Amino acid sequence: MTKDDVKNLKNEDMNFADKIYIFDTTLRDGEQTPGVALTVDEKIQIAQKLNNLGVDKIEVGFPASSKGEIESAKKIASLGLDSTLAGLARSLNSDIDAIIDADLDYVHTFIGTSPLHREFKLKMSQEKIIETAVNAVGYAKDHGLTVEFSAEDATRTEKDFLLNIFGEVIDAGVDVLDVPDTVGVLTPVYTHELVSYLKKEFDVPLSVHFHNDFGLATANTLTALECGANQAHVTVNGLGERTGNCSLEELVITLKVAYGIDLGLDTSRLYSLSKLVGRLTGVKMPVNKPIVGDNAFAHESGIHVHGILNNSFTYEPMAPELVGHSRRIVLGKHTGANALKSKLKEYHIDLNQDQFCKVFDEIKNLGDSGKCVTDDDLVAIAVTELSSARETPIVLKGLGLSSGTGVSPTATVKLEIDGVEKETASTGVGPVDAALNAIRELIQDTMDIELEEYNLEAITGGTDALAEVFVISSDSYGNKSTGRSTNQDIVMASILAVLDSINKLLLIQKNNNY
Ligand code: KIV
Ligand code: ZN
Repeated sequence: MTKDDVKNLKNEDMNFADKIYIFDTTLRDGEQTPGVALTVDEKIQIAQKLNNLGVDKIEVGFPASSKGEIESAKKIASLGLDSTLAGLARSLNSDIDAIIDADLDYVHTFIGTSPLHREFKLKMSQEKIIETAVNAVGYAKDHGLTVEFSAEDATRTEKDFLLNIFGEVIDAGVDVLDVPDTVGVLTPVYTHELVSYLKKEFDVPLSVHFHNDFGLATANTLTALECGANQAHVTVNGLGERTGNCSLEELVITLKVAYGIDLGLDTSRLYSLSKLVGRLTGVKMPVNKPIVGDNAFAHESGIHVHGILNNSFTYEPMAPELVGHSRRIVLGKHTGANALKSKLKEYHIDLNQDQFCKVFDEIKNLGDSGKCVTDDDLVAIAVTELSSARETPIVLKGLGLSSGTGVSPTATVKLEIDGVEKETASTGVGPVDAALNAIRELIQDTMDIELEEYNLEAITGGTDALAEVFVISSDSYGNKSTGRSTNQDIVMASILAVLDSINKLLLIQKNNNY
């Protein structure tokens, strides 16, 4: 088994076309996702990425709908991309003129054909609809355009009428026929019947445009391709009206991995394209979105991680690199020893058996209490375990404080750093600040620290209350560590907590060979 080949599900009963065209409509139907509007610049960025991925056709917008749409189409057309650029147009001469104004030479024209569209939207007879469609196709052909015709709501249109209108637009010179499942009512079995039938009836290339209202858009599109459809309309992340369209990444990867059909796209660009579209449209993918979701290659259960570490195909249908994603081992209540070992190795942390068991137990306990254990949590837990067994490189040897009215509080701190005693005095806005400034000065040759968080809590009542200080510090490498200390003296508790976190940072640096 190779990395890219799981199981070839393609068989002799399937009639895949020799060449399958990918028609991406992220910039048109995808932009019709409720709440999404892309600027000209954003459309250009997405178009360039789609082109680099290698899609055959990009529907750049609906030029008749606004001046901005014409401008963005024009700008994309001026880039000289390899992908063919298309624009949407109603079956109206003025819409087709807007396609020409936008410097596009491929029009995707449509008219509603179902009884619902005829009666409640267009208020047109079947004859009038045919006449309108035929005129539009003829007008576009007369202007030298390549013409794709969509019978909007085709899957709820009487079969006879669908055959009729398709036949008429073919006579008018149409180049591609498209079957929109406008409200996503198809199932794979019915798709099989419809597409096989249309393929027998017509010689003109057949395209499909399937919506995802029942969650079947990708399955239906694959079925259509199995039955000989020549082109699939898709969108990045499955964006589009309501619940969206067939997802580009799902279709292309299923064809490649499950059917062994390589469309020649650079699939390693899929993940970054998905992220870009998610960022620009504001529509973030759920973690469990196939192919590009955060969990697409994430594993927590001990059994799965064990398998993955031996051979990733045990619990993954393909390598994450195929789509430019990466594998993630997540720690939690289902974590097994193998996962923890591999994580510790990733962070260069060596624990003895006893320390390992304690860290393992703590992670399980956190998981049982409903918490997800991040990598930062693991490093903090493991380093804390290590630090309880090590000699501390920096030790507090002395502290003097002075304050009064009209003078800044001053702290004199003596530290032993790697066996050498050093002392300095510093001022601050208060005694804690003064002491921390003194520490920073004393350790400046050893490390640069930033105090990211400082929390002080009284854990018992009264004037002799115990103070608990919790801090998070970071170093210049971006490592973070926690420190904690409890003392009756707030300044002392603060200094010891900060030193605790500094000592852990030193340990992390040592583990990483900085
Ligand atoms: O879903 C649909 O029917 C469409 C048409 C414009 C083709 O997007
Ligand atoms: Zn649509």
